[in-house]
Amino acid sequence: MVEAWLVDGLVGGLAIGLRLTCRWADYLDCTGIAAILSAKTYLMDNFTSKTAVITGAGSGIGRQLALRSAAEGMHVVVADIEVPPMEETAALIAEAGGGGEKALCVQTDVTDAKSVQALADTAFEWRDGVHLLCNNAGVFVGGLMWERTIADWEWVMAVNVFGIVHAVNAFVPRMLEQDEEAHIVNTSSMGGMVSASFSGPYFTSKFAAVGLSECLAHDLATVEAKIGVSVLVPSLISTNIGSSTRNRQEAFANTPGHETSDSGRSIEEVLVMSVAEAGLDPAVAADKVFAGVKAGDFYIPTNDTYDTQIQMRYEDILTRQLPRVPPID
Ligand SMILES: NC(=O)c1ccc[n+]([C@@H]2O[C@H](COP(=O)([O-])OP(=O)(O)OC[C@H]3O[C@@H](n4cnc5c(N)ncnc54)[C@H](O)[C@@H]3O)[C@@H](O)[C@H]2O)c1
Repeated sequence: MVEAWLVDGLVGGLAIGLRLTCRWADYLDCTGIAAILSAKTYLMDNFTSKTAVITGAGSGIGRQLALRSAAEGMHVVVADIEVPPMEETAALIAEAGGGGEKALCVQTDVTDAKSVQALADTAFEWRDGVHLLCNNAGVFVGGLMWERTIADWEWVMAVNVFGIVHAVNAFVPRMLEQDEEAHIVNTSSMGGMVSASFSGPYFTSKFAAVGLSECLAHDLATVEAKIGVSVLVPSLISTNIGSSTRNRQEAFANTPGHETSDSGRSIEEVLVMSVAEAGLDPAVAADKVFAGVKAGDFYIPTNDTYDTQIQMRYEDILTRQLPRVPPID
């Protein structure tokens, strides 16, 4: 039961106060803001014979996360919107010694809540549990913000943000119910930690992925769940991210002639070139994920430049300035 009432705010405005008589009262202070009881995420370090679900597993980082999960002795649900690359990932797992029964392909569109529910149904039924969930599917949309269409924004938010929200709703209640050690890894980006020009839609979605991951970790810690959370923060990785539009669904299509803008096209070309020339091997990113999860790290950056980039940002925030754009490698 929550009783709400209006009180005078300190600056003469109105604020809403909450009096809680529900079972969560111990966790909340009188203004309804969660009190921080513990800032530590749950640590999972045994993966053998457990089950992993990886979205966006047909390519790039997701494929390497799937292969690395199999190498850890896990059974892997390989989920992607694109079928042939997803099947290739499963074949690579079999070739690497996993055999045909180590991977299960489930075509999934993470923008569709029903599709993600169906993925969860299949995954939980397959091996009687899910212990590692990597919400990794992602797409890039860049360009000057005001030049990108509402359909552009809806698409990038649907994949990069709602893709994770759908999985939280579909998987977490059942992960809580199974009451076994588990971990969730959400792929954000260095673009979720620092800002820059020409990447508004993508960076905005990745900032949201960071915020929702932190809140999820706090919620899980509050209910003392055996489920940890980490955020993967990749810098440039050599993948197919620069050709994300290959997977753009009809529902998010732009009207003919408005497919992109000049600035959008230019930044996508720069991205394709940069990841090809300077991108890290995605297998290294997957190794960092397992090392980070085993160490109990919440933030898992792929590059050592992370420290300087984060430091610059928070120095500027503390001096009330627009954060500088750090060199992003
Ligand atoms: N490559 C980089 O430099 C870089 C940097 C920072 C963050 N990231 C993030 O890493 C993640 C993986 O991307 P990547 O670089 O491996 O790119 P990628 O294009 O190689 O792989 C992305 C995968 O997601 C799948 N996908 C796209 N839309 C989907 C949907 N609606 N439902 C299910 N699957 C879908 C694609 O088919 C593809 O297999 C993304 O979240 C991306 O934003 C990448």
